[in-house]
Amino acid sequence: MAQERPRWRRLAFRLCLLSAALLLCLQLLARRSWCPEEKRPVAEAAAGRAAPLSRGTERQPAAGRRRVTYVRNGRRGSAAPRCCPPQLPGDRRKKTARWHIDLQPWASPTPSLNYEALRFLKYISTSQISCEHMNLSSLGGYSETTKRPWSICLDERFSLVHRLRSKQCRLYSLGLGNEDHQFELSMANSGCEVHRFDPSIKAAHIQEGQHLWYHRLSIDWRDPNPAIAAHKLHSNTKKLGTILNEFGHQKIDVLKADVESAEWKILENLVLEDVVEQIGQLVFEVHVHWPGFEVSGNDSSVVRYWYSLLRELELKDFRLFHTYKDLSKPQMFLKKEAFNASSCYTLSWVNTRWK
Ligand SMILES: *[C@@H]1O[C@H](CO)[C@@H](O)[C@H](O)[C@H]1NC(C)=O
Ligand SMILES: *[C@@H]1O[C@H](CO)[C@@H](O)[C@H](O)[C@H]1NC(C)=O
Ligand SMILES: *[C@@H]1O[C@H](CO)[C@@H](O)[C@H](O)[C@H]1NC(C)=O
Repeated sequence: MAQERPRWRRLAFRLCLLSAALLLCLQLLARRSWCPEEKRPVAEAAAGRAAPLSRGTERQPAAGRRRVTYVRNGRRGSAAPRCCPPQLPGDRRKKTARWHIDLQPWASPTPSLNYEALRFLKYISTSQISCEHMNLSSLGGYSETTKRPWSICLDERFSLVHRLRSKQCRLYSLGLGNEDHQFELSMANSGCEVHRFDPSIKAAHIQEGQHLWYHRLSIDWRDPNPAIAAHKLHSNTKKLGTILNEFGHQKIDVLKADVESAEWKILENLVLEDVVEQIGQLVFEVHVHWPGFEVSGNDSSVVRYWYSLLRELELKDFRLFHTYKDLSKPQMFLKKEAFNASSCYTLSWVNTRWK
């Protein structure tokens, strides 16, 4: 009996081992048939729904490959989170600069200066919206002695008159230093914060009175080349968008510009970079006796470009409310006395979308 016990025990032990091994085997088998199914969703989640690609690859190293696939897929893919900047509400995406304005079709089937000029001159001579109140003196006993019609629209339906009353108005005035400043003074006296950009003044910044600043800066349609800027101590030429950023200004209620033929490229820059959306009203003197700085092409192309540029403003909901033909200037159009045109017009737009 003493010998039979261990034998029985050994048998039991073997049985135990056997069943344990069997269980293990069963479990392994079960897992094998399970695993692919449970791993697949996990792998797919990691693969960012790149399912069709991961289906076929069941071997172990594939897991690593799937991730690579995901990254590549993400860059190429459409809705993958990494491809596009997070979709901010409108603004950020609209800021992507364009390189060219959209040219309007020619005014006639075959390009002709005659048709381009007639279309353009009619366009700049026709108000698109009526404005009743354009006279600052109606705001508060202020005598208007401005020789030139820098017209702004003070109708109640546009914000400018309200912003003037609440002293929240801001005027930027671009010039070259030889104009009279009556308009700026009137605006400052009416409570508008006035920034006059004038490259001819002596100091970098001068404050004259409570609301009037002069800055020794001229506005350009591009920022200076950094290589050149580094050598010059004061490079005082900047884009308007750059100045807005540097001054921390979000809005300009009125932008006045009298920049002797640089207005076309400046306007183009404001349109292409969407800076116009930050501006309530534009009062520009435009010059047509020559194409203007860095405007090229034959005469009909130039006039088409001018026209297209102004149409871009219209597309951005700017409306011409005042136009003035300066009869005191030479009556020239692209170096010729033609089309009964003046070399100089003053145009005023209101941004009807602006609050
Ligand atoms: C502005 O209005 C005043 C009176 O309110 C008038 O005397 C003056 O002529 C007007 N100026 C212009 C440019 O219309
Ligand atoms: C001016 O140039 C454009 C293209 O640059 C051309 O299509 C057009 O025929 C030219 N117009 C004239 C009048 O020469
Ligand atoms: C030329 O322009 C002036 C001023 O705008 C205008 O009074 C005149 O009628 C125009 N002449 C012609 C022939 O269109």
